[in-house]
Amino acid sequence: MSEQQWNAVDAYFTDLLVPEDDALTEAVTASDAAGLPPIAVAPNQGKLLHLLALTQGARRILEIGTLGGYSTIWLGRALPADGQLVSLEYNPAHADVARANLARAGLDKTVEVRVGAALDSLAQLESEGAEPFDLFFIDADKANNPHYVEWAVKLSRPGSLIIVDNVVRGGTVADATSDDPAVVGTRRMFEVVSENPRLTATAVQTVGARGYDGLLLARVTG
Ligand code: SAH
Ligand code: DHB
Ligand code: MG
Repeated sequence: MSEQQWNAVDAYFTDLLVPEDDALTEAVTASDAAGLPPIAVAPNQGKLLHLLALTQGARRILEIGTLGGYSTIWLGRALPADGQLVSLEYNPAHADVARANLARAGLDKTVEVRVGAALDSLAQLESEGAEPFDLFFIDADKANNPHYVEWAVKLSRPGSLIIVDNVVRGGTVADATSDDPAVVGTRRMFEVVSENPRLTATAVQTVGARGYDGLLLARVTG
């Protein structure tokens, strides 16, 4: 099985099921033009996030790792008119690109991009007494994944859904001897999830336009 085959199947699915409008294609074009790394979720993954947010009936979404706002647009489009999405981004240049992309998508009133290290922004959200979020999409620096999951639980309500991107990374997650901080962080995150009695979770491996990777899904119980 080749990467070429994964790409062909992703193209087949995406052509039929995931039509992208101008706001989404322009978000990718503008992100590329600004020199952002091409690591946004693939279109069919974005649509998966969108469907999960709809299924969840999400009114409040917290994203960690905005980049150019591509996943943000998919998630934001699942919200009702009075819904809110807060997206945390360390790099102010990424946030600028994202804000322009979100404005083109008509989501500038719905989405707030907060610049700063996510750990600081999360503490800030707590101190502001932020209402609980219904869905979390964790997709930033992988070394901090265990902390991000702990913060997500803190800012959740029973029934909230936590999604973590890139938990497989070419299979490296299974390497207990790895000293790659991303692998160490993701493995620690799996321990945090498995040890937390308030979380029920699974993870799945994926292949496609973004290579061999995977997602973790966790539901916060009562
Ligand atoms: N969710 C996006 C992709 C995010 S890429 C999409 O799928 O479209 C990861 C992003 O996390 C990058 O923009 C990077 O600058 C940001 N990031 C890295 N470390 C961070 C930190 N400590 N706090 C907040 N954002 C961070
Ligand atoms: C990287 C980060 C991501 O969020 C992703 O989806 C793919 C790659 C990275 O840092 O290389
Ligand atoms: Mg990712």
